[in-house]
Amino acid sequence: MIRVALVAACLTIGLSAVVAQTNPIVERQNTMKSIGAATRDGAAIAKGEAPFDAAKVQAIFKTYSDSAKKMATLFPDGSQTGDKTTAAPKIWEDQAGFKASLAKFDSEASAASAAATDLASFRTGFGNVTKNCGTCHETYRVKR
Ligand code: HEC
Repeated sequence: MIRVALVAACLTIGLSAVVAQTNPIVERQNTMKSIGAATRDGAAIAKGEAPFDAAKVQAIFKTYSDSAKKMATLFPDGSQTGDKTTAAPKIWEDQAGFKASLAKFDSEASAASAAATDLASFRTGFGNVTKNCGTCHETYRVKR
């Protein structure tokens, strides 16, 4: 009996995990949108349009790191096409390279977060981390 209940529980957990991820394409696009929003906030600070705020800049870099970790799980087989994805086939052809690009983005965001104690250090770190956007998009995204 206990064994049956356990199996049933495992199945339920397994199923809800699948349901939660029914659409990895939409999920990764939303993740990238939050990266985009954080980048707009960061650019406003870097340009002096918004005041330097230590908590805010930490939150921006945290969004980058958290999103990078999440992105690594959002390109399962079968999600190559559909939902107007701009993900390039190269993501699946070179999964190690793509994951390495995400890991680089993540670690540079953490380093920039730790180093961003004032506006000048924020600008340097933010400039450095946001180079990853174009580099990755050029390689792993197609233009529509
Ligand atoms: C390691 C790779 C990688 C990095 C780094 C990266 N992106 Fe992306 N980005 C992607 C991929 C892949 C897509 C396409 C997702 C899809 O359509 O399935 C994307 C899509 C987007 C989109 C479109 C989302 C939508 O509405 O569909 C925006 C905006 C975006 N990225 C902004 C950024 C910004 C800003 C940065 C840097 C701060 C960044 N990205 C860093 C890989 C990356």
